[in-house]
Amino acid sequence: MSDQGRVPPIKVALLGCGTVGGEVVRLLTEQADELAARVGAPIELAGIAVRRPDKHPELPQELLTADAAELIDSDIDVVVELIGGIEPVRSWLLSALQKGKSVVTANKALLAEYSGELAEAADASGADLYFEAAVAGAIPLLRPLRESMAGDRITRVMGIVNGTTNYILSAMDSTGAGYAETLDEASRLGYAEADPTADVDGYDAASKAAILASLAFHTRVTAADVYREGIGGVSASDIVAARVLGRTVKLLSICERVIDENGAESVSARVHPVMIPRSHQLAGVNGAFNAVYVEADAAGELMFYGQGAGGAPTASAVLGDLVAVARNRVVGGRGPRESAHAALPVSPMGRTLTRYHVSLDVADRAGVLAQVAQAFAAHDVSIAAVRQRDRHSTASLVIVTHLAPDAALRATVEEIGRLDVVREVVSVMRVEGED
Ligand code: NDP
Ligand code: HSE
Repeated sequence: MSDQGRVPPIKVALLGCGTVGGEVVRLLTEQADELAARVGAPIELAGIAVRRPDKHPELPQELLTADAAELIDSDIDVVVELIGGIEPVRSWLLSALQKGKSVVTANKALLAEYSGELAEAADASGADLYFEAAVAGAIPLLRPLRESMAGDRITRVMGIVNGTTNYILSAMDSTGAGYAETLDEASRLGYAEADPTADVDGYDAASKAAILASLAFHTRVTAADVYREGIGGVSASDIVAARVLGRTVKLLSICERVIDENGAESVSARVHPVMIPRSHQLAGVNGAFNAVYVEADAAGELMFYGQGAGGAPTASAVLGDLVAVARNRVVGGRGPRESAHAALPVSPMGRTLTRYHVSLDVADRAGVLAQVAQAFAAHDVSIAAVRQRDRHSTASLVIVTHLAPDAALRATVEEIGRLDVVREVVSVMRVEGED
């Protein structure tokens, strides 16, 4: 008998068998022999918990249950959680970890709130907690941050981590259509979910930013720490204003290590639409794809790109975690622990240094430019570029600033909006990728 034949199987409980879980079952079944060879023990699917077992004739009926808690309590080694949401999943996973059962999950909403609590439970029992699929689907990103770059000092993680909003913004850019019309089309084609709120309002990207910032800066960052703006306010005029200046609009998650004038370190995490130069690597990421740009002291700049969602791509990341966890079980060890030792404070958005692009319709007469420039000066915001185009009785004025605290830039725009000479504030958006 081979060594492999003597090693007991790694027993897996799968919670949730929808878009991602269904693909996990397919890959586990189709690749059973190869996975066993890679792990050094067979991976045995011991049970599948779903909400409505009668709706799953495609699954082995003897494995199905509606009682996830009972399945977790049974004789299993690993829980793969692909249900989503906070409760009851949080309680189930805590209970599994407390009993020493390892957990693989793609649940970004849960991790963005409770990763600290889950990691502590895993540490206490010596179980593994892996979640590569929670950010950027198939793209190997969290393990590189957590393991490959553990010897470096990451300064920035910036990227497109929500495919739905990237699809909508790419379509607005290529067709010139407005936001509402493009969202309707994305829903019709199945790119946006029936309830797209979590995506278009930036909650999904903010959860992912919290996970990225936590790993990159060895600090617990939750979704509530992440400044968030969605894409609902991006208009066709914003897209045109960006295009005129050789830019495009993207929803970016930006996590930065901040060092103030006294050398004190903090972390900033934000999600909002930005204009970036069309020549920037992230500008070429279109449709439902994801891409993340990482900067580190020694490594320099790295770019991670690929499919950020979908059943099979996400299942690839889940299976990668499952193989890692199973290997750890076979050798009797565990993977790297959570590293939150830096415990840096989170810097508020108002203090984060950003650059603004402001497009105005103003009266075309003497002294107007001076009044607008005075508003910037009053808030200590330095102007980097001004461009004016005459119309009949009005002029179009486009101003791009240097870096300034976000609160100062906001106050400037509010003041400009109150000036009599300003007919309309046409577009206001932050600018990235030009510093
Ligand atoms: P689906 O909605 O397709 O599937 C959810 C599954 O959970 C269904 O099988 C459902 O059962 C089951 N379920 C729901 N409630 C319960 C319950 N109380 N007890 C047992 N089972 C339950 O979700 P996805 O596959 O799309 O997503 C799963 C996870 O992966 C989420 O955390 C999501 O954020 C994450 N993710 C998803 C990606 C994607 O592209 N879809 C990409 C990256 C991450 P039933 O089938 O009977 O309704
Ligand atoms: N709703 C998410 C997206 C799925 O559009 O990117 C992947 O997390």
